[in-house]
Amino acid sequence: MAKNDDLNRLVIVGAQWGDEGKGKVIDFLAAQADVVARFQGGDNAGHTVVYGANVFKLHHIPSGILNPCTLCLLGNGMVINPQILVRELEDLEKRLIKTDNLRISGKAHLIMAYHQAMDEANEKMLGEKKIGTTGRGIGPAYADKALRRGIRAVDMLNFSHFCEWLAGILPLQNKILQEIYGQPGFKYEELCEFYRPLCDRLRPLIIDTDLLLAEEIENKKRILFEGAQGALLDIDHGTYPFVTSSSTVAAYASAGTGVGIGWINNVIGVLKAYTTRVGEGPFLTEQKGETGAQLRERGNEYGTTTGRPRRCGWFDSVIGRYAARVNGLTGLAVTKLDVLSGMDVVRMAVAYRCRGEIIRHFPLDPSDMKECKPVYEDFPGWDEDLSNIRTFKDLPPAAQHYLQAIEEAVGVRMEIISVGPDRSQTIICPESQAAVWMRK
Ligand code: IMP
Repeated sequence: MAKNDDLNRLVIVGAQWGDEGKGKVIDFLAAQADVVARFQGGDNAGHTVVYGANVFKLHHIPSGILNPCTLCLLGNGMVINPQILVRELEDLEKRLIKTDNLRISGKAHLIMAYHQAMDEANEKMLGEKKIGTTGRGIGPAYADKALRRGIRAVDMLNFSHFCEWLAGILPLQNKILQEIYGQPGFKYEELCEFYRPLCDRLRPLIIDTDLLLAEEIENKKRILFEGAQGALLDIDHGTYPFVTSSSTVAAYASAGTGVGIGWINNVIGVLKAYTTRVGEGPFLTEQKGETGAQLRERGNEYGTTTGRPRRCGWFDSVIGRYAARVNGLTGLAVTKLDVLSGMDVVRMAVAYRCRGEIIRHFPLDPSDMKECKPVYEDFPGWDEDLSNIRTFKDLPPAAQHYLQAIEEAVGVRMEIISVGPDRSQTIICPESQAAVWMRK
């Protein structure tokens, strides 16, 4: 097998609370990838990719699908909603995008109709204490995986086997829905018939993706691992319990695809030039007034999956450093720098003041964050429109200075800067891993 000292396997992860613009970065890098593999999450993710006049909103399917020569894989670490995936495929096909380059790991778990019903009912039951989930059934599907009563993609290969599994599991799922959540249950026959055409449509795509990946590595193919959500939503390292139910950090690119950890050594973390979050949970640099509204409108900060307005605030380098550490970032991509044009002052949190003490690390207990306030450093703003700039040296000096401050505060080299939603609105820093990757 090839040595692990090349750039052929690159992981892209979110380094904030998701929605950092990973879709755009992955779409850009996917032009030079042979394979794009997603490794966690499900249709809670929403990637918007803009290509010319076309806007694509993807949920399960990797952004690489827009490149007809790129093989796209849904890895074993994902949870997949067959109904939504089939709808996504149909949408792409209607717009003449080739989808026969998609494959699904047989080991991926399915999000079933009852998972979605439980997610919604659970949020309702939590009331004020709700997580603010996307309502896609992600938590219940991962819970069933851990409880060893999930249905996997491989079960769709044989429909009678699929129905047998369902028959065994459904009485318990209905009991939970009816007796705990006071919701109606699902009828076995109806559910089986609902899934029959979905199994038929997806069956040809379900394979042993980790075997395929091993062959691709053997053949020195380039693999891009596509993360969803972000470090602060990670089930272990995020602001628990206000997190998603999967491991979003780079190490899971290995477990979530079946590619041994030794084969992966480059990780680009995507950070927005400011910060956003959807759902509940702590967010120290949040701006609830005019600045937040300005960022939301200029940055079109509304959820791709749920349409919810995102909470907006200043860049937080405490989070950036934390994400760099838990992911082992080797490079940074900073997105939406153009959104900051026209701000008099751009602020960055460089530390937190917690009970009179200045801390530069992310607190162990996120509930301590109630006692913390950000310590800001202010940077002069710039007025220039950045959307047509394609090299770092052409950026206004104030924007260059701000980016250098991010790089320094996070402690990781800048690789990519995004100045607009289109693929072409991208600056690649010279001598970076991304520049080498793009020179294939
Ligand atoms: P869940 O993943 O639907 O269970 O939602 C749990 C938390 O993660 C909520 O705060 C969601 O808003 C957040 N979340 C899940 N997926 C995304 C995403 O793709 N972008 C941003 N936030 C997300």
